[in-house]
Amino acid sequence: MSSATTHPGVGTTVLSLEGVSKRFGAVQALSDITLDVRAGEVVALVGDNGAGKSTLIKSIAGVHPPDSGTMQIGGRSVTVRGPAEAQRLGVATVFQDLALCDNLDVVGNLFLGREIVQRGRIDETEMERQSWQLLHELSARIPSVRIPVASLSGGQRQTVAIARSLLGDPDLVMLDEPTAALGVAQTAEVLNLVERLRERGLAVLLISHNMADVMAVADRVVVLRLGRNNGTFTVSRSSTQEIVAAITGATNNPVSARAHRRTPEENPS
Ligand SMILES: Nc1ncnc2c1ncn2[C@@H]1O[C@H](COP(=O)(O)OP(=O)(O)OP(=O)(O)O)[C@@H](O)[C@H]1O
Ligand SMILES: [Mg+2]
Repeated sequence: MSSATTHPGVGTTVLSLEGVSKRFGAVQALSDITLDVRAGEVVALVGDNGAGKSTLIKSIAGVHPPDSGTMQIGGRSVTVRGPAEAQRLGVATVFQDLALCDNLDVVGNLFLGREIVQRGRIDETEMERQSWQLLHELSARIPSVRIPVASLSGGQRQTVAIARSLLGDPDLVMLDEPTAALGVAQTAEVLNLVERLRERGLAVLLISHNMADVMAVADRVVVLRLGRNNGTFTVSRSSTQEIVAAITGATNNPVSARAHRRTPEENPS
């Protein structure tokens, strides 16, 4: 979150994928995926269970590097061989399972693996100060930074995980189903947080099953169906029905239609 490094200007393409494919044994999880995310933009990645959303995020994050295709970050072609490399390139990911340490407090989780050390000792006071500052900047409602995260609500835990991802000063933040297990008020809080990220000029890629969330917070929606692109929508010019039709396969966009012509057995009609 520091302003020490310069971030790409709003509107600049931060992430660009072309022809990305990924196979797990017999399962072709991703085929020929195209995706762009710009600075200061929230792109929602939607699709049915098994459509390939998490796999795509994991490919970008270096967890499951793609089998083929190209990936540009900040305009440079990159090969991300692992999660550490993705972080160095300015990509932060909050995975579906959050991976917080329940027994550690908020400060401990935020600074896990990047503790602030002064004269050979961990500087708890400074880490606590920076934790409050970060949570304040995000308008996050956390009662105390000194309670174990096990005692926080689902929304508060999500907030801690998102705040932690920001400490690496990323240009792109990817969130996998951040509101999936949350109630109405907590969902609103996390969506507010997503808007804070956009205001900061970050590029945000958000996976969600909830169309109301998507329509409320996203600028564009990218639909995946059976591991392929099935349409990109500008939220201000699209209806929920149109997007749902692309998710369920009631409509095919030209990209997927072309792909289906290549594999007629998938498209018996
Ligand atoms: N590590 C893995 N090994 C083998 N197959 C996998 C692996 N990860 C995902 N898959 C398969 O790839 C396909 C896409 O899965 P993925 O988890 O990306 O879907 P998703 O869109 O995130 O679904 P959901 O909405 O249920 O989270 C599925 O058929 C899944 O079984
Ligand atoms: Mg998933």
